[in-house]
Amino acid sequence: MALASWAAMGGIDETEVAIVGAGPAGLVLAHLLAARDIDCVVLEQRDRAYVEHRVRAGVLEHPTVELLRELGLAERLEREGLAHRGIQLAVDGIRHRIDFVELTGRSITLYGQQEVVKDLIAARLAGGGQIVFEALDVAPTAIDTDRPVVQYRHDGVARTLRCRIVAGCDGSYGVCGPLVADRTVTEHTYPFAWLGVLAEAAPTQDELVYASHDRGFALYSMRSPTVTRLYLQVAPDEQLAAWSDDRIWDELATRLPVGDGFRLNTGPIIDRGITAMHSSVATPMRHGNLLVAGDAAHIVPATGAKGMNLAIADATVLAAVIDDALRGGRPEHLADYTPTCLRRVWRTQHFSHRMTTMLHRFDDDAFRRQLQRTELEIVTSSVAAATDLAEHYVGLPFATLAERAT
Ligand code: FAD
Ligand code: PHB
Repeated sequence: MALASWAAMGGIDETEVAIVGAGPAGLVLAHLLAARDIDCVVLEQRDRAYVEHRVRAGVLEHPTVELLRELGLAERLEREGLAHRGIQLAVDGIRHRIDFVELTGRSITLYGQQEVVKDLIAARLAGGGQIVFEALDVAPTAIDTDRPVVQYRHDGVARTLRCRIVAGCDGSYGVCGPLVADRTVTEHTYPFAWLGVLAEAAPTQDELVYASHDRGFALYSMRSPTVTRLYLQVAPDEQLAAWSDDRIWDELATRLPVGDGFRLNTGPIIDRGITAMHSSVATPMRHGNLLVAGDAAHIVPATGAKGMNLAIADATVLAAVIDDALRGGRPEHLADYTPTCLRRVWRTQHFSHRMTTMLHRFDDDAFRRQLQRTELEIVTSSVAAATDLAEHYVGLPFATLAERAT
């Protein structure tokens, strides 16, 4: 059939796995499936430049780095990522180190999420993988059957993608999560948000500084030898317009442990945004042949630096159960997906909640403030408590098939 009339009718394509969303979860899944010779197509609603420049997370856990290395995707990460041996907790201006390498033998790597996304997209396209950017009105249907269909529009043309499995990796505002008809959402909203800025200012530290201060939490992080990433606790309904550059720098200088050998370089702010602090877990993570991963299923508050890592951990479990279902002839193993993921999800929620409640200011709650100080004292003085924090921060090992919670 002539191409023009085919396009006018709307195209019909086939693949084994339709992946909705080209964030960390969807892209890592695409690579894991390709490594198993399982065909997939990624449908992303935004254009390539948008997803490659969206500033978000920056901490890669040890298992995430190992996975990217195993997949042959860590070449630039190893060159440009910043390996960090530990973090610092500042309590009322006094800094305490948690040395991950000493406590766990492992470290973390600072490398922007958008850099991970760029690397994954480039490698996928170079390997002949299909990513459809600007796929609009994506609508998975027939997910209860063994022949799901995903409909969408591309370049003004209605398209149909037939598949065996739909992977919903489309983030917290995506269309896939709500298709899990019987899902229950357990959630918690914190009474504050984060104002995050990216600044062209050389970092003065080679470790992150998490600062607990009477005026509120602040975080000192970085992306490269010339770019600093900084966060301030703000009101949940804070308006970005209320924060001039001067106000941001003044507040950071107040809350971070300036003095005590710590210097804060300032510079042009090149990106800014407000992120809500929220925890949620939607379960089950599967409905028939639709399986959801990453932010589409759960959100963690950013204090634990876990969102991207958890999304990637889900992708590893999802690739394994899809492999079992499509190649191993064991579709019943799709049932393992939710319970296997949920163990890590809840451990991560617990850790992220603990970091969040330990470090933020809760208004007018003197009792809670004293408990926070006590917890910070325990974590900064007990090797056992510091080791527990370090083990969770560097990342628990990814679940192996043998560890599945069936
Ligand atoms: P995402 O990265 O959200 O990817 C989902 C993809 O699906 C996106 O590319 C989206 O465009 C696409 N999509 C959505 N709907 C559709 C649709 N209907 N059809 C097709 N495609 C669709 N963590 C930190 O540690 N520090 C931070 O500063 C930080 N900031 C964040 C700021 C924001 C605004 C958000 C949302 C998250 C932030 N996080 C941060 C958390 C971390 O970035 C996420 O946990 C991580 O991106 C999750 O990866 P994911 O692949 O599950 O989802
Ligand atoms: C970041 O660098 O963006 C970052 C670091 C640590 C966090 C959250 C975000 O806990």
